[in-house]
Amino acid sequence: MNSSQQAVYDDTVVRQFSIMAVVWGVVGMLVGVIIASQLAWPELNFGIPWLTYGRLRPLHTNAVIFAFGGCALFATSYYVVQRTCHTALFLPKLAAFTFWGWQLVILAAAVSLPLGFTQGKEYAELEWPIDILIAVVWVAYAVVFFGTVGTRKVKHIYVANWFYGAFIIAVALLHIVNSAAIPSGMMKSYSAYAGAQDAMVQWWYGHNAVGFFLTAGFLGMMYYFIPKQAGRPVYSYRLSIVHFWALIFTYMWAGPHHLHYTALPDWTQSLGMVFSLVLLAPSWGGMINGIMTLSGAWHKLRDDPILRFLIVSLSFYGMSTFEGPMMAIKTVNALSHYTDWTVGHVHSGALGWVGLVSMGSLYFLIPKLFGRKDMFSVKAIEVHFWLATIGIVLYIAAMWIAGVMQGLMWRAINADGTLTYTFVESVKATYPFYVIRVGGGLLYLAGMLIMLWNVVKTATSGHTATVAIPAPAHA
Ligand code: HEM
Ligand code: HEM
Repeated sequence: MNSSQQAVYDDTVVRQFSIMAVVWGVVGMLVGVIIASQLAWPELNFGIPWLTYGRLRPLHTNAVIFAFGGCALFATSYYVVQRTCHTALFLPKLAAFTFWGWQLVILAAAVSLPLGFTQGKEYAELEWPIDILIAVVWVAYAVVFFGTVGTRKVKHIYVANWFYGAFIIAVALLHIVNSAAIPSGMMKSYSAYAGAQDAMVQWWYGHNAVGFFLTAGFLGMMYYFIPKQAGRPVYSYRLSIVHFWALIFTYMWAGPHHLHYTALPDWTQSLGMVFSLVLLAPSWGGMINGIMTLSGAWHKLRDDPILRFLIVSLSFYGMSTFEGPMMAIKTVNALSHYTDWTVGHVHSGALGWVGLVSMGSLYFLIPKLFGRKDMFSVKAIEVHFWLATIGIVLYIAAMWIAGVMQGLMWRAINADGTLTYTFVESVKATYPFYVIRVGGGLLYLAGMLIMLWNVVKTATSGHTATVAIPAPAHA
């Protein structure tokens, strides 16, 4: 092949997923701000059933996790697997199908959830026809990803692909097992499991949705984009292998920490607690590996806002993976469960880790996809970083204070054994913290809107770049 016929990477689908990640990010976070406002001012549902909290809440979680997070994972995994395997995507038409199929899933969710169709399982609310579409798209994704790894032109499989690969396989397994249901109409079904088993399967799914959807895939991003942006090799390749196997093995067992003090057998609750405590080690091993990749290049943090997004995301990852094992201890969970402490924990992981690492990676990716050296405005990235960081701190600090306060108020008992506070008193005491959360959410959303503007400007002032695949390296 001469230079005029050089093979090029298949980046169309990467461009499409990157843009949609930003668009769905804005939508999902906007719904987050709306439901946060409804918790402070309930009349904001205007008496319209589609706008009630119970219907918009799953719309928020599905939009941010599967639409925003999902598109960011598709985009980055398709980009990374090509670069690290020195080959174009396997079956690009199937890759295009995954893009359109995934957008169809998101639209089906955006219509069916506000209409009130739900299986009532958290993070697995969508009804059975949509579940089947998800399974088909996901299997196609696995074929494209593993097909690309299988046709690689280099011997080695870079560690980022191990994490993306584990995420793809585990999510297929989780989704198919947890969604098993008997349909009783076009948009109604009953779970294939009953009672305590149903709860167990659901939280095996729910926890591993955190472990694999919200963590393993994003660790794939971390292992590619931090070394790239820092211009340094991964701190320890050996640690990354230990990190991978320890994390993958441990996550699968920790689900019962969502079901402490329930009808689940006591030993399974203890097992979940112990595995959650063990999980601290691989999580922190990964965080340290990411942060230490910067050794010798710390000064770059001073004037590189993209690197700041990536490194601060790791600090939040470290924070939430310290907090999670603590909350998994049964006596701590007795206080934290049902309170806003859980919501604070969720968002330190979701806004801090998942959000920031995705934004940093997309800021790295998007100019390259549109043939530019940098984003249209680097200053705007800087502004986004500070808005997001201040927003997260307001959100999570408010929820921590509210959560611990609620837990303490609910368990306070007078000398005669009666409750010191009525429930409504705890709701009233929470009100100011709900208002602060709306403020934090608005800042975070404002940052995302700036990102959308910057991405549109970058895309329209650049051109769709074609990048040649390097010639195979021979030993
Ligand atoms: C502007 C940003 C955001 C705001 C204002 C926001 C607000 C909220 C609110 C008010 C809830 C309901 C809490 C409750 O039921 O008491 C919630 C739940 C949730 N959000 Fe967000 N959110 C935002 C961004 C995100 C992002 C980016 C993610 C994920 C990547 C995320 C993931 C979740 C999850 C998983 C839950 C369910 C938590 C649970 O069941 O404990 N959120 N969010
Ligand atoms: C070592 C890692 C982690 C452990 C052991 C852990 C543990 C826990 C525990 C004990 C709960 C409270 C369960 C309850 O009382 O209902 C929880 C909730 C949650 N965590 Fe984590 N966590 C970890 C990391 C993370 C990270 C990094 C994220 C996000 C990216 C995250 C997202 C969530 C979500 C979404 C929930 C709420 C589930 C629900 O009730 O809807 N966790 N986690």
